[in-house]
Amino acid sequence: MRQFREQIAQRAGAILDLEVPQLADAISDPPTRELGDLSLPCFQLAGPLKQAPAKIASQLAAASWDFPWIEAVETAGPYLNFKLRRDQFSKLALERVEQGSDQWGSGSSGHGKRVIVEYSSPNIAKHLAVHHLRSTMLGQAMANLLRCSGHEVVSWNHLGDWGTGFGKLLACWDLFRDTDNLDDPALELREDPVSDLNALYVLYNQASESDPQLESVARDWFRKLEAGDPLAVERWQRIRSVSLDKFDAIYQRLGVHFDQTIGESHYQDAMLAIVKELEGAGILEQSDGADVVRLSEDIPPLLVRKQDGATLYGTRDLASAVLRHQMFPFDRCLYVVDAGQGLHFRQVFGVLKRLGYRWAEDLEHAEFGVMRLQVDGAWKKGKTRGGQVVLLEAVLEQAVQLATSKVHSKNPDLAEDEVAKIAEAVGVGAVIFSDMKSARRKDVNFDLEKILSFDGETGPYLQYTHVRFCSILRKASDLNIKSGGGGRLVEADEVVLLKRVLRFPEVIARAARDAEPSHLSQYLLELAGEFNTYYAQHRVIGDDLELSSDRLALVAALKRTLGKGLELLCVTPLERM
Ligand code: ARG
Repeated sequence: MRQFREQIAQRAGAILDLEVPQLADAISDPPTRELGDLSLPCFQLAGPLKQAPAKIASQLAAASWDFPWIEAVETAGPYLNFKLRRDQFSKLALERVEQGSDQWGSGSSGHGKRVIVEYSSPNIAKHLAVHHLRSTMLGQAMANLLRCSGHEVVSWNHLGDWGTGFGKLLACWDLFRDTDNLDDPALELREDPVSDLNALYVLYNQASESDPQLESVARDWFRKLEAGDPLAVERWQRIRSVSLDKFDAIYQRLGVHFDQTIGESHYQDAMLAIVKELEGAGILEQSDGADVVRLSEDIPPLLVRKQDGATLYGTRDLASAVLRHQMFPFDRCLYVVDAGQGLHFRQVFGVLKRLGYRWAEDLEHAEFGVMRLQVDGAWKKGKTRGGQVVLLEAVLEQAVQLATSKVHSKNPDLAEDEVAKIAEAVGVGAVIFSDMKSARRKDVNFDLEKILSFDGETGPYLQYTHVRFCSILRKASDLNIKSGGGGRLVEADEVVLLKRVLRFPEVIARAARDAEPSHLSQYLLELAGEFNTYYAQHRVIGDDLELSSDRLALVAALKRTLGKGLELLCVTPLERM
């Protein structure tokens, strides 16, 4: 809708002989349809003109508005309301979508800007759990949205592949050789190597309760790893590689892709450099034998080096931020990490600011709320009754299973492989969409039955609406009805739909700016809702062929918009279901 609002704003400026930046942004929908299709509030003109807003509105209404797409201009107090000439407006609107072709929705608000988006960042030697879904999918959607609005995006996976815990895993190799020799069958050849590692890790912890020696054995192994001992490094690399294989399989299923996967292990040298730099800047202080950087009164200091000289998670984040800026000087760097780590990021960003890095202002913690699951009737933070984490893969499997039975019952004639394909898209899409539906800072209650429902604010509902568009278009093509130019779309709700469609690129730009995929998910729900209401009242393919052609063009524009929108959110738009 931008170009239409822009034209109105420009004309208003010319009439008043006044330059008002951002006047176009103030133009919105009037509160009721009877009042018109677009509304310009005159409040912000009152100051510079030293006149009452209502008076300005009258002055504007009296002037000439000879755009072919404007039918009438009226005032309602301080508002200037426009009625669109529907036949003209619909033609122009459909042309606009048509011109966009495959790029429909893309914008230029990000041209010349580079953004790093860090997301997922799981720890190796563990499975992706359901709580990883949030960072992974919100982050991927943000990356998609930023790209679509013209940014250069570097997607980044900050793998948790370093820390003393790995010492235990390396030690397991020897300790459990009799019961489970990790070389036979080799880790890489096992059916589920990550689960085997997890099981051994638990056993190791249990064993060290009766044998405190084991703690120091594990520490030694980690020290060896840090020192580059070939055997330690080899074992660690094998653990890393089987974990990555597992992650990649799930990432692929979810439509997730990274440009850079750089683990915490990468920062050994860089951490020494940053500690030196902190020393040089005179901001490293001793506290109980450890090294810290003090920050403002209201946040605790960041611990940079422990008494025993070991570096920490935060030290690695300092080094990583510096590296990110060196590799890809950015305009923004987003950390899509749960809100629970808010203090950590304030500390890390604070230290970088104290070091005088101006780009530290461009680091953003794109935080999100927790995902809760239902355990025995109560909402819990992603753990089962036994305290086990719920695996992401298990949730996806369950969702796909449920989707399979739903698709079956809706469509009993579909072939088995077709059902499988559709159920995968519906099940996985439902899980993903539920994550994107509400504002990211809100906590979400993950209710499988609900998110798979075909009505309500769900992924399947949107996929179903997309299928509806496709089947209308298929039917039209069977009847050999071609898409029209739009001149006959003169119903009020057709204008509403077209206005909604034209807002698509703006919604994407806004979602990218705010790192907020829910702007798009909510928009798509509104679009689908408006269409479904329209469809209940109007026939798209009817006796009047010319009208049918125009309505088909509207459906094609809606399909393009919804399809592209779903793709940006990593939900597969389906042709049939
Ligand atoms: N690996 C960490 C975890 O699982 C998340 C890392 C978040 N990103 C960061 N730059 N600290 O909790």
